[in-house]
Amino acid sequence: MKDGFGREIDYLRISVTDKCNLRCQYCMPKQGVAVLPHEEVLTLEEIFRIVRIMGTLGIKKLRFTGGEPLVRKNLVKLIGDVDGLAGISDIAMTTNGLLLEEQIDALKQAGLKRVNISLDTLERAVFEQITGYDGLARVLAAVDAALDRRMRVKVNCVPCRELNDGGIEALAGLAREKDVDVRFIELMPIGCGKAFRGIASEEILERLERQYGTARKVSPETESETAQHYQFAGFLGRIGFISPMSHKFCGACNRVRLTVDGQLKLCLHYDNGLALKPLLRGGAGDDEIRERIASAVKEKPRGHSFSDAAMQGHEEKRKMVQIGG
Ligand code: 5AD
Ligand code: SF4
Repeated sequence: MKDGFGREIDYLRISVTDKCNLRCQYCMPKQGVAVLPHEEVLTLEEIFRIVRIMGTLGIKKLRFTGGEPLVRKNLVKLIGDVDGLAGISDIAMTTNGLLLEEQIDALKQAGLKRVNISLDTLERAVFEQITGYDGLARVLAAVDAALDRRMRVKVNCVPCRELNDGGIEALAGLAREKDVDVRFIELMPIGCGKAFRGIASEEILERLERQYGTARKVSPETESETAQHYQFAGFLGRIGFISPMSHKFCGACNRVRLTVDGQLKLCLHYDNGLALKPLLRGGAGDDEIRERIASAVKEKPRGHSFSDAAMQGHEEKRKMVQIGG
């Protein structure tokens, strides 16, 4: 499925819940956010139907996000169901890892191939300070559990001046000991993220090269890859940088999002999209939904404009925990 700028859209990120069992400061307010009433949230059957339709439109890759996706009941069943669908060839998840170890075998069996685990520090006290919960050991156990099952594991870190600046080099060291990609994501000024200062990828790379020696740039595996990867000598895994602020990659964007309340969201940064719930619950047929999705995708914005005053008013007002990253 092509958008209005000729970009091939083959990647759907699905937020299955707006709840989270952590409270990362840059993502969620301390007191939490009002969660949607149960009836506003898409059922697993409704999500399945959208994926089935979008599989026929050219979506190949799925990623489950939240909030924290593993707090959604019966997610394993949904993964098993979408795994068999025509067109779908890759199923991944972004999780904070707290509930991963206990569900890993069921998830793998259902068809989950890859996990991205969010982890901002290797220091127990800093972890608790960022997330509001003393859970570092469980997250590290989840990384090992996924590696044991031979799943591909990426660790995602958002460097923040005020939160984890001092532990960046140590976190990168995880990729030396284990076959995981450690990826640094530039903080985007969305929701609570606005209150913190992110650290540019360039600075992180410089710091890592000072500590670990010069890195070799690895060429991208796919055109739409958002991360730039580096290999450090003696490291089992790679170091990646996702730099939405300093190196905008919107030109190669291949993704759309399904929010927990059934909006097909076309760009992380904009609040517009297609409300699918009224169609799903109003008796629309598959063909009608398919056509509405295809024409909505044509309206996908060219790119984010975090620094553009002109788009103010259309920017996303939800918190990151409600979007799924
Ligand atoms: N900018 C960049 N990444 C963010 N995340 C949450 N908020 C932001 C933000 N403002 C990340 C989390 C997690 C993923 C779901 O999104 O760290 O890895
Ligand atoms: Fe933290 Fe992710 Fe939960 Fe946000 S959704 S509070 S980043 S674990």
